[in-house]
Amino acid sequence: MTYLLALDQGTSSSRSIVFDARGNIVALAQQELPQIYPSPGHVEHDPLQIWGTQLATAREALKKSGISASQITALGITNQRETTVVWNRKTGQPIHNALVWQDRRAEPVCAQLREDGHAGLIQQKTGLLVDAYFSATKLQWLLDHVPGARAAAERGELAFGTVDTWLVWQLTGGRRHVTDVSNASRTMLFNVHTNQWDDELLALLRIPRSLMPEVQPSASHFGDTKDDFLGAPIHIGGMAGDQQSALFGQACFSAGMAKNTYGTGCFMLMHTGSAFQTSRNGLLTTSAAQVSAAPQFALEGSVFVGGAVVQWLRDGLRAIEHSGQVQQLAESVPDSGGVMMVPAFTGLGAPYWNADARGTITGLTRGTTLAHIARAALESIAYQSAALLQAMSRDAVANGGQPVTELRVDGGACVNNLLMQFQADLLGIPVVRPACVETTALGAAYLAGLATGVYQGTDELSALWKAERRFVPTQDKARADALMARWEQAVRQTTAQ
Ligand code: G3P
Repeated sequence: MTYLLALDQGTSSSRSIVFDARGNIVALAQQELPQIYPSPGHVEHDPLQIWGTQLATAREALKKSGISASQITALGITNQRETTVVWNRKTGQPIHNALVWQDRRAEPVCAQLREDGHAGLIQQKTGLLVDAYFSATKLQWLLDHVPGARAAAERGELAFGTVDTWLVWQLTGGRRHVTDVSNASRTMLFNVHTNQWDDELLALLRIPRSLMPEVQPSASHFGDTKDDFLGAPIHIGGMAGDQQSALFGQACFSAGMAKNTYGTGCFMLMHTGSAFQTSRNGLLTTSAAQVSAAPQFALEGSVFVGGAVVQWLRDGLRAIEHSGQVQQLAESVPDSGGVMMVPAFTGLGAPYWNADARGTITGLTRGTTLAHIARAALESIAYQSAALLQAMSRDAVANGGQPVTELRVDGGACVNNLLMQFQADLLGIPVVRPACVETTALGAAYLAGLATGVYQGTDELSALWKAERRFVPTQDKARADALMARWEQAVRQTTAQ
């Protein structure tokens, strides 16, 4: 039997999964990752805790599986993207906590970049809209605020990495300083057309090139783990940012195929093949996981508050005791009774891009109950995702392609049948849940398997992908359009406050 190990380092937890070659889960281990909030808008992780929890789960997953490291053909890494770590090359010590992707402290730098008219150049080279979300301005902040950091960087003493790079550095005992194209594309320093760090952007952001890791295709040899970490050296053959990894694990390999991951937020990606497309609808262009040196792209949109709305029902409204109760409560009424909730708690992301928007509930009547509000909360996840998919389809058509015909789903909330059916009804296309919903980790395992000859090509992976359930639209288009129009009306209310 052939086995692959996936390390999945996410924002809230570190996980490791042992897969067999058919993509079945053999063992899984998970540990929470502590969050550090030093002040409003600042979000940090301790890089040593990232490494410690990740290593512990890798060891635990191997132990649970009963499979030794020498039986693992290769390992793949997938990770929270954009989160920025800087460490000393000699000591391996981080110079500061990691600045997490959600951290907003670099916004003034971004505002200046936009004001100085650099947004067009940055979007054309990187596919990204200038925002503090990405690594570049976080890295600049660290160099400018950690005493002595800039001078040390200029002497070539420091290394920068996103979480993938940091983990490989640790796993290889400091021998390899590498990343893959999909992670590099989230830094705002990477030219996605040439697959290289961009000297003009490095100069603009005042980032010494010596900090930057080597960039490789997502399925390639990134190094070998030091044998004392997992018991025997393991070939590190796969690496991709978590959303691109999920796209890969969902076997979305060609233009027009799309997936949505329902987590705390929702991340929707549509593959656009080898074509770099600039969105006219507020989406990002990003590098998809790449098996060879040839660039592959995706359009991406994110919903900031997806499953988090259920946490708010639990912790903010205290309407439920645990998240699992939401489906039952929502199902106790036939519909939301005209209630619309827009959970713009932290502004609205794509396609609206309104940082000042705040949440709103509309359509309340004397007959409204908690069940209607719970249903509206759940439905808000589907409305926001539908608005993203409509934007993607508009972009696809404007670029001479076809609208999306099917949406593959994964992530925690995709187990909610009510939500998935409502999603299909709104979209008017089938929503398909795969047999393995651990697609983020699966993508990394597949990349590692491709790099080591376990699989001969992506066709083999497409054949392994199996649907567990297809949610087919049951509602006519006129009704779906009317609901979306009411949603858009509620969205307009979020700025009228
Ligand atoms: O871009 C941020 C994304 O990669 C984070 O994903 O699943 O760790 O919240 P997750």
